[in-house]
Amino acid sequence: MIEAKSIAKTYPDGTGALHDVTFDIRAGESCAVIGPSGCGKTTLLLIFSGILKPTEGKALIEGEDVTASLKELALIFQDYGLFPWKTVYENASLGLELRGFGKRERKRIVSSLLKDLDLQGFEKYYPKQLSGGMQQRVAFARALALNPKIMLMDEPLSSLDALTRENLQNFLLQLWRQKRITMLLVTHSIEEAVFLGRKVIVLSPRPGTVIKSVDNPDMGDLNYRTREVFFDKCREVRQSLDGGAI
Ligand SMILES: Nc1ncnc2c1ncn2[C@@H]1O[C@H](COP(=O)(O)OP(=O)(O)OP(=O)(O)O)[C@@H](O)[C@H]1O
Ligand SMILES: [Mg+2]
Repeated sequence: MIEAKSIAKTYPDGTGALHDVTFDIRAGESCAVIGPSGCGKTTLLLIFSGILKPTEGKALIEGEDVTASLKELALIFQDYGLFPWKTVYENASLGLELRGFGKRERKRIVSSLLKDLDLQGFEKYYPKQLSGGMQQRVAFARALALNPKIMLMDEPLSSLDALTRENLQNFLLQLWRQKRITMLLVTHSIEEAVFLGRKVIVLSPRPGTVIKSVDNPDMGDLNYRTREVFFDKCREVRQSLDGGAI
């Protein structure tokens, strides 16, 4: 579904962000990407969303070169990306509105999503009246309204407190289990990568290249965090990261 073939990216000012990055993610698979700050993770997501072009190599989705505005792709960033002057309901239905969905259809889809995301009753609130966790859930509602096949996420939970973050990790895991969306999640957290990634790709310091692709077959249930295999897997990822830093 998602393929990186020897991707390299050098910015026009000469900064090398990525070097020979190769991996693939199967349809319905959930993959986490972890690596030190500045190693090119955001750059990689921008390449897969068609916003940036790689200097070398190819970024393919379903065998095709990526193009901007791919319909089945949702992008979620850390800063939520909500419009402050629009209400929760308006923010969540924005994508549908842009795609020309009628009023009734929008209401049907958005109301049900806001309910799933525990935001019922907040439709008329503005982002600044919500907590960070609620704002991020509105951003998820907006992305999910379009029923994406692929979700690219750049540290979507990293500005949230620990408990809210765990709740949203649980939400993402359940979402993935129910809908089998292909997920590519960039995170700084080893625990988050191991909880949510069926595969964890470890990148080296800049220019980022794949140090290791860690198979994580035991992920997938909400109790994983408390199991011995979870800690073993976290240790394995940590060791790969440390190895790359030396
Ligand atoms: N527009 C740009 N022009 C020049 N250099 C850039 C540009 N954007 C990013 N870079 C550089 O490319 C490298 C990778 O940046 P990127 O934002 O992809 O890293 P990252 O892994 O997402 O970091 P973080 O974990 O801190 O978010 C960095 O050294 C950064 O300074
Ligand atoms: Mg980044």
